[in-house]
Amino acid sequence: MEYTNKTFTNMNFVSRPGLQTFNSTSTNSMTLSSESFERWRQFIYKSCGIYFQDNKKYLLESRLLKRLNSLKLNSYEEYFDYVNLGSRKTIEMQELYEAITINETYFFRNQPQQEALIQKIIPELIQAKYNTPFKKIKIWSAASSSGEEAYSIAMVIKEYIQPRFPQFSFEIVGTDISKEMLEKARGGVYNDYAIKNLPLNFLKKNFTKTPRGFEITSDIKKYASFIELNLYDDLKMRSMQNFDVVICANVLIYFDLKSKIKVVNHLYNALNKGGYLFIGYSETLHGISQAFKLTSFPKTIGYKKE
Ligand SMILES: C[S@@+](CC[C@H](N)C(=O)[O-])C[C@H]1O[C@@H](n2cnc3c(N)ncnc32)[C@H](O)[C@@H]1O
Repeated sequence: MEYTNKTFTNMNFVSRPGLQTFNSTSTNSMTLSSESFERWRQFIYKSCGIYFQDNKKYLLESRLLKRLNSLKLNSYEEYFDYVNLGSRKTIEMQELYEAITINETYFFRNQPQQEALIQKIIPELIQAKYNTPFKKIKIWSAASSSGEEAYSIAMVIKEYIQPRFPQFSFEIVGTDISKEMLEKARGGVYNDYAIKNLPLNFLKKNFTKTPRGFEITSDIKKYASFIELNLYDDLKMRSMQNFDVVICANVLIYFDLKSKIKVVNHLYNALNKGGYLFIGYSETLHGISQAFKLTSFPKTIGYKKE
């Protein structure tokens, strides 16, 4: 397989440009009190599993302040009441999610996982289904953000797997809580940052340069679809079924242990027997689930449902 020899680094917590202006020191009257912080963090935790540790208070403060400013509200308490007012709750909850989530991602963020998929996992899954009528491989990019992970998989499948197994079809489903990111994923137009790790041959083959950025071709787009899904929503999570591979990378880090256990349990149930789960470089299932068989691949590990 041809890849450029770049280092794949894992960036977990990058601030969004522009937010530096919204810090608590610049606006004295807009301080998030300890009581208010606790109220907000429990509220957010119960809604989506994201848990702001004590040392991330400043981050929550700056992110909520963005909404306070847009809505011209005067305090975090006022915003709490605003979000919770029945008629606008659904709309404002979405705005809240947009403000508090960290959507960092880029193509080929985890090269060893791509290699494990192409060289071992997908061939193994195909082998298992070869003599059955079920010639489809289903992959779920859970917390897909703007789609780079899902499309990276689509690109390697198109390049290395599809030509060898034309009788098989591949379906990649990307889900996220952020509607903005899902819209971006569906649009498939990316900037220089997103393509920084993308091998040049993949860029040339699968993108068109447009005034808006690099647009992914319809050949790749057709492999993937994107739907809104809160990983913390038990009902919707139960509807995710029959996946052969689930990639849930760089999102569990924002959850506390209890939410991690709950989400990983759903991911386990979403997988077919013989399927694999991948998580992020800096994440582990240690202390979260013993249901999977830890499986080693060159420079990475996967979790197999036996
Ligand atoms: C750092 S990005 C990771 C993107 C991609 N998986 C990767 O590794 O490059 C984390 C994503 O998780 C999403 N997220 C956070 N909490 C979520 C939840 N409860 N349900 C679904 N998505 C969530 C965010 O919107 C964000 O797009």
